[in-house]
Amino acid sequence: MKEERLDKILVSQSIGSRREVQKLIRCGEVTVNGEIIKKPEYKCSPEASVISVDGRTLEYSEHIYIMLNKPAGVVSATADKYDKTVLDLVPKEMYRKGLFPAGRLDKDTEGLLIITDDGDFAHRMLSPTKHVQKQYIAHLDCEITDETIKRFEEGIVFADGTRCLPAKLEISPEGNRMIGIVRICEGKFHQVKKMFLSCGIKVVQLSRISIGNLYLDSKLPIGCCKLLTNLEKELVFIGNIH
Ligand code: URA
Repeated sequence: MKEERLDKILVSQSIGSRREVQKLIRCGEVTVNGEIIKKPEYKCSPEASVISVDGRTLEYSEHIYIMLNKPAGVVSATADKYDKTVLDLVPKEMYRKGLFPAGRLDKDTEGLLIITDDGDFAHRMLSPTKHVQKQYIAHLDCEITDETIKRFEEGIVFADGTRCLPAKLEISPEGNRMIGIVRICEGKFHQVKKMFLSCGIKVVQLSRISIGNLYLDSKLPIGCCKLLTNLEKELVFIGNIH
């Protein structure tokens, strides 16, 4: 297995900047396989070694997976001429080359967005054939009827003939018929808004609350990021509907 410098490994795991992790190492806060290592240039295999920082064992991951509670007003892109992007919200210590949003939320849509540098993961999560369910809360300009629920269930067809897969629409648990919970397994452009529009309903606010079994952390403030653990990352694929 490939060996790397200890300071480089810690930086790659968002423990801190190169200078910060070197300080941690020199202060004796880092162990490799139980032994205190005080040399930042010490080489080991990140996969095969047990690395601990300040007594806590590192959960090494080659790639990074970030949960963002996306606010309205930022675009799901890596760069934009006019608007702030979701990458602008990634804190310095989590930032690394090759990050991109795994799927897009519209500029005015809020909620759960995953930012990663792992293309395979994004593909698995986004491909309709993988059946990963995305759940949205939609605030509407009029009430949901049983007919609307039935049309979602049958698969909405847009005016241009584009066919959506069958989707689940429920009225909010509080019984407010102007708030719908929508579950879809695909990600066509403006899909949820267009599905409602096909039924004569305008979406006034949209937020994504889950992807697979991974739910937006209710303690994560709007506009903030947190790293996903390996377990949280796997929740995306646990309990897919097929
Ligand atoms: N559907 C939409 O219409 N917009 C989003 O941002 C996501 C799903």
